[in-house]
Amino acid sequence: MKRISAYLLLAMTILLSACGQPQKKSLVVYFSATGVTKAAAGQIAQATGADLMEIVPAQLYTAEDLDWRIPDSRNQVEEHDRSCRPAIQPMDIDWALYDTVYIGYPIWASEAPRVINTFVESADLSGKVLKPFCTSGMTPVEPSVEALRTSYPTLNWQDGLRMNEVDEATLNRFIGKE
Ligand SMILES: Cc1cc2nc3c(=O)[nH]c(=O)nc-3n(C[C@H](O)[C@H](O)[C@H](O)COP(=O)(O)O)c2cc1C
Repeated sequence: MKRISAYLLLAMTILLSACGQPQKKSLVVYFSATGVTKAAAGQIAQATGADLMEIVPAQLYTAEDLDWRIPDSRNQVEEHDRSCRPAIQPMDIDWALYDTVYIGYPIWASEAPRVINTFVESADLSGKVLKPFCTSGMTPVEPSVEALRTSYPTLNWQDGLRMNEVDEATLNRFIGKE
């Protein structure tokens, strides 16, 4: 009888402390210069019920900025300078609410654009499950995820997903809903 009471007490304590803890949520953050990654981010937010937030560069990219055929265009200058951190608009995020963060970006020269580095370095991502996703012309997501892992080895990077024409089963596996 004593043992049953002890178990009951333990169960009630666990239940009460669980009730006191707000349920952690997922957040989808993304940068998109021309709208493709924005649509992919919306798809993930809809499938997961996650909050959605855009990473907006302080200075938006013009069509000329994005033209990689112009040797000194903005994207080329940023790509050739690994330490470049383009400013982003402030993001009001209560990090304590989230345990999983989906981070989306277009592939630029096989990697995530440098604004993603700006975001990662300005955010409180330690201890969170990070799920990178991208859109691209054809480059797979893996090299960009490897670069992020190398730059931020203490963060918990999961395998990424290229979202172009992704099928439902693959998306469900990515979001852990199988
Ligand atoms: C500066 C720049 C560099 C790019 N580099 C690559 C690349 O290396 N590989 C690739 O497959 N696509 C590349 N792309 C194509 C984009 O990744 C693709 O169009 C992406 O879906 C655009 O997403 P967004 O509309 O969200 O900006 C590049 C596009 C730009 C503007």
